[in-house]
Amino acid sequence: MIRVIDNAVPIAILDFIRSIAEKRETWHYKCPTAAWVQFKDKHPKLDLIVNGNIVDNFLAGLAIGALMSAFDKGGHEYFFPEVLYSGIAIKDSTRDDNTHIDHDDRDDIVKVLFLLNTDWQEEWKGGFKYDGDVYNFKPGSAIIFDPRVPHSADEILGDEKRLALDFSVRKTTLS
Ligand SMILES: [Fe+2]
Repeated sequence: MIRVIDNAVPIAILDFIRSIAEKRETWHYKCPTAAWVQFKDKHPKLDLIVNGNIVDNFLAGLAIGALMSAFDKGGHEYFFPEVLYSGIAIKDSTRDDNTHIDHDDRDDIVKVLFLLNTDWQEEWKGGFKYDGDVYNFKPGSAIIFDPRVPHSADEILGDEKRLALDFSVRKTTLS
């Protein structure tokens, strides 16, 4: 399943998270973590919450604010705001994103995704590819999806860095 909720979160929250994240010195290059992925195919990632533990207090607080807004705007039909993981990924035109699945060992998780670039232009592409279809982000949209269905970032054109905030949260019984 995939659901897009438009106007799920105030633009100001996304802009603020992005401005803080861009200054962090804790970005790492572990992702994708699969053993066969070479370093040249990895991308920067900033962890906020790992295994339910907050690793960046300030950004995790802001991120949960965004998540709660999406929860309020209809996301509650699909998830509880119980966060197993949250992080920010940077993707750009220099690498093809790998199509993958997440959390293949459990069926009680959904992912919630926000684009932090609220000034993103459609001609830069960089939407969210899910089960063969591409979903373009609108500023403030939340994309909620089953992580056990193959997905990736669509190709990106131009030289912008695409910052996406993602959460792994507990699925509700309603979906
Ligand atoms: Fe993923």
